[in-house]
Amino acid sequence: MASLDYTVKVGGPLQGVIRVAGDKSISHRAVILGALATGQSVITGLLQGEDVLGTISAFRALGVAIEGPQDGRLVVNGVGLHGLKAPAGALDLGNSGTSMRLLTGLLCAQPFATQLVGDDSLMKRPMERVAVPLRLMGAVIKTGAGGRPPLQIEGGRQLHGISYTLPVASAQVKSAILLAGLYAHGRTTVIEPAPSRDHTERMLAGFGYPVSQDGPAISLQGGAGELKAGPLDIPADLSSAAFFLVAASIVPGSRVVLKRVGMNPTRTGVIAILRAMGANIEVDRDTQVGGERVADLTVTASALHGIQIPPELVPLAIDEFPAIFVAAACAAGTTILHGAEELRVKESDRLSVMARGLKALGVAVAEFPDGLAITGSPFTGGVIDSGGDHRIAMAFAVAGLRAAAPVRVRDCRNVATSFPGFVEMACALGFDLQVTNS
Ligand code: S3P
Repeated sequence: MASLDYTVKVGGPLQGVIRVAGDKSISHRAVILGALATGQSVITGLLQGEDVLGTISAFRALGVAIEGPQDGRLVVNGVGLHGLKAPAGALDLGNSGTSMRLLTGLLCAQPFATQLVGDDSLMKRPMERVAVPLRLMGAVIKTGAGGRPPLQIEGGRQLHGISYTLPVASAQVKSAILLAGLYAHGRTTVIEPAPSRDHTERMLAGFGYPVSQDGPAISLQGGAGELKAGPLDIPADLSSAAFFLVAASIVPGSRVVLKRVGMNPTRTGVIAILRAMGANIEVDRDTQVGGERVADLTVTASALHGIQIPPELVPLAIDEFPAIFVAAACAAGTTILHGAEELRVKESDRLSVMARGLKALGVAVAEFPDGLAITGSPFTGGVIDSGGDHRIAMAFAVAGLRAAAPVRVRDCRNVATSFPGFVEMACALGFDLQVTNS
């Protein structure tokens, strides 16, 4: 297939007021819980990215009537917790690890069997991390070679609650267990080694299903009630906003306002890290919308400096490291990250693909098993392989703003999984970005 490439030339300043695409994590959960609810859920602000469209298609295949999405509006006619139907074939979840892991938790509790597959990247990602605890609950799940997809999920098993300590902080694994727990006999408890995004817990409570938290332990009782449909307004995605937080920080004279961005405290690690590096990010109009904190962010250019990234911030910024690494390449001194081995099992091995790309631009990078050390310096242009990873593609597009010669980023098609409209928005802010097919 032809490669969709971005070529970015040095540019700026960046100026403008934007609302980035809807939050991906919350959008997936809105579709899932809307499908399981009784009644009609009208969702606004939904991310119309390919990952969420994949979740929507999966629920249509499971017998749920869904209208839209159009301009971020989706109407889900919930079938209730026990209303899903057997799909006609395997469910293809594309590039989306969130869809596959959350659906595994839900589908292992259904009365029918399912098979889950995905694209080349998803077919390489670890799935035993969800299969292991779900089997402890009584589920029957077969993974492919090396614990990867395809997943063969047998239905018709009565699950029972467990208390499970997650070996790694993972919201996907936590959510899979909680979704299975809705159908289990007794109580299901997930104990987190460090806080991970808590959208599932918040949204379950928002749909009227009781979830309790006692320190790091999150619990629910199977069969404790129904999910009740209602309106849901989804904030803009801080993970998408992160590219412009970095871009406006590193290009002199920039000022960008990002409207109605999700500021859930389990997601704001990127703001804490960039501020510690000297970024100038102001938070205004801080409110709660549908159980989630939302605010406007104003970022102005500033001189960044390298830091040692506090390990407790790693799970709270786990998707933002490609952007943070570009900020580090533009900062004075060295930025050091440890404790982030999870980055090796994202849509690509983000430590190795980012290190390779930054080195190709002439940036000094040391790679550790669990992190990177990046020493900021002026850097040149070049051709970068994104590894088919949406966030790496966008991160190197941002790097191009400060490179001495054009940066061509190869294989950017998957930006459509999380941030459709990225190119148009970047150009409106002042990026000199060309898209080519080669
Ligand atoms: C997500 C959880 C995180 C994150 C992913 C979205 C979610 O993955 O990286 O992009 O929506 O639950 P892990 O659970 O693997 O940390």
